[in-house]
Amino acid sequence: MTSAVSKSPVQSIQAPHLLSDTDLTSGELQALIGLASRVKNAPRDYAASLTGRSIALLFEKPSLRTRLTFELAIQQLGGFTVFQDHRDGRIGEREPVKDIARNLDRWVDAIVARTFKQETLEQLSQWSSVPVINALSGKYHPCQAIADFQTLTQHFGQLEGLKMAFVGDGNNVCHSLLLCAARLGVSLTVATPPEYGPDPDVVARACELARTSSATIELSFDPREAVSGVSAVYTDLWTSMGWEAETHQRRAAFADFQVDDELMSQAASNAVFMHCLPASRGEEVTDSVIESPFSVVFDQAENRLHAQKALLLMFLTEEDG
Ligand code: CP
Ligand code: NVA
Repeated sequence: MTSAVSKSPVQSIQAPHLLSDTDLTSGELQALIGLASRVKNAPRDYAASLTGRSIALLFEKPSLRTRLTFELAIQQLGGFTVFQDHRDGRIGEREPVKDIARNLDRWVDAIVARTFKQETLEQLSQWSSVPVINALSGKYHPCQAIADFQTLTQHFGQLEGLKMAFVGDGNNVCHSLLLCAARLGVSLTVATPPEYGPDPDVVARACELARTSSATIELSFDPREAVSGVSAVYTDLWTSMGWEAETHQRRAAFADFQVDDELMSQAASNAVFMHCLPASRGEEVTDSVIESPFSVVFDQAENRLHAQKALLLMFLTEEDG
């Protein structure tokens, strides 16, 4: 389907798809965060923006936040969704990914997909004439990072010059934070056990992007050193979806990387605690930290709704002129 929503001042995203955070320019990322805040403050102004548009959600993994916030976002913008549960049979198992893409693009205006492999998203995008949006893959979680930087903007007023630490598994969430922080001028130190560091290619790309902003990107094996003086401490599950067989081994490897009150006391006095959720209390974070007044985890979760509305508007709205 190719019909366009009515003219509006919303800036378009130039890339055809959102497979990784690198599909967004710095300007687009900033525009997304700004639009997400406007949508949050005046949701009714956008209530008819996706009238008549339909979006397919394909999920190979469980989800609370991403699925519900996409469904709500689309409905609150006037569109509607169809959901295809792929938890029992991965995308491409019953029929080739290229065929799925060429069925869906005859019916819907966008495809939102949560996949194990980044390659599945890439294949969908190669064969789809409508935008494919990454709703979390084994490698990236761009929708999460957009909401996270919206949350930091709201909390601190501006991002440029902010210092942040990620403590834990150098996985999909960490990768997206690295790429967005580098673009947005947020200095990020990632502390992981040596064998669980972020993908070197993602780190190299983040360092390259950081050269165009005032950000610094650093890796560490020492959580105390990483969080020293930072304004935001972020962590994620030690055992991500799909890695459950390694749970015991990971508990041992990450034992010194728990975010507790003592670790938080090393951060700046006004520092916030961040987590994408779901959280495993007693593993990557203590109950005391996640329930503390400086925890912004539910603001992050709320902003998933607004940030994804902004993303859909920027992908599906045609620019004036
Ligand atoms: N943070 C996040 O993506 O949560 P879900 O897995 O519940 O979607
Ligand atoms: N890294 C986690 C994020 C969950 C939102 C996972 O992939 O399971």
